[in-house]
Amino acid sequence: MSHENVVRLEEIATSTSSSCSSSSQSSSQSSFQGETNDPEPVSHVPSSIYMVFEYCEGDLLDVLKAARKQTLYLTKDHLRSFTRQLLEGMFYIHKNRILHRDIKAANIFVTRDCRLKIGDWGLARSWRPPPYPAPTAAEDHGSVRTNGGGGEREKASRYTDNVVTLWYRAPELLMGVASYTTAIDIWSIGCLIAELFLLRTLFQGRDELEQLNLIFNLCGTPTPETWPAPGRAQAPPLSPSHPLHPSYRPRVVKQQLRNTQGGREGADLVDKLLALNPNSRWSAKQALDHDYLWMDDPKEPGELPPIVHLRRAQPSAGGKG
Ligand SMILES: Nc1ncnc2c1ncn2[C@@H]1O[C@H](COP(=O)(O)OP(=O)(O)O)[C@@H](O)[C@H]1O
Ligand SMILES: [Mg+2]
Repeated sequence: MSHENVVRLEEIATSTSSSCSSSSQSSSQSSFQGETNDPEPVSHVPSSIYMVFEYCEGDLLDVLKAARKQTLYLTKDHLRSFTRQLLEGMFYIHKNRILHRDIKAANIFVTRDCRLKIGDWGLARSWRPPPYPAPTAAEDHGSVRTNGGGGEREKASRYTDNVVTLWYRAPELLMGVASYTTAIDIWSIGCLIAELFLLRTLFQGRDELEQLNLIFNLCGTPTPETWPAPGRAQAPPLSPSHPLHPSYRPRVVKQQLRNTQGGREGADLVDKLLALNPNSRWSAKQALDHDYLWMDDPKEPGELPPIVHLRRAQPSAGGKG
């Protein structure tokens, strides 16, 4: 993958019990060097794989912490640029048929010249387009099935639903849907953009139930009109046995966010990204056309005041993939 908002993989180095080789001619060292006169047969199966990524001075968590402590002031131009870069990176990843599945502040790397790069591929998976037409307007969202539903034939394409750090986990995952789509990454991006506007984590639940409850406090409780059958199989939305039934709450996303640095337009964009129903949730492609990103003469990262607070020491060697 090659995109300015995705952390670039520089090289892959592998080591076997007797050697270390690298996909480029670098000086990578193995800690598993064997003796050259070893009489045992040499295994060529790598025992370790090292992935070397382009270096970034900090991550979005560092930026948010500095902004909360007021040692860093994020201008409206910063917020608009960060939002656009997050969406550009996400659009590229999804266009390449990859689900990231762990979007959170600590996995968005930031350079001092205000460039954001999505990284940490530990939970990422590729997805295949469904063999049938997408049933709704959400045709930009690619889909995978979880371990919980569908017929025998589909087993090979089912993935775990135990993905995404709790605070950024989409409501359909919390409710145990039978399949999920790229919309789960968009939910996490929506939470992150709101976090940049508010300078606090949007939904900070201690467990899955509390997380869903916090989501419903802001996004309203689902109704058969807004989200038909969000649970497993044919279960109606919030059946009477569900612990959160029947405490109906209205949707207040725009009201809660319009007085922040994002303003009315930023609040409207977050509202579109935090649709409860994944089929109504905007794709990264749709979001990139939102007025918020085009108003007030948007700036390029190089035109923004640099983030001098990012001072992560450059590692002398190593790292992990
Ligand atoms: N491109 C990068 N530049 C600088 N630091 C990085 C980069 N990628 C990862 N790190 C740092 O390396 C550590 C591991 O990061 P990550 O790839 O997110 O893996 P994980 O979170 O699964 O351990 C973290 O401290 C992270 O901040
Ligand atoms: Mg990480």
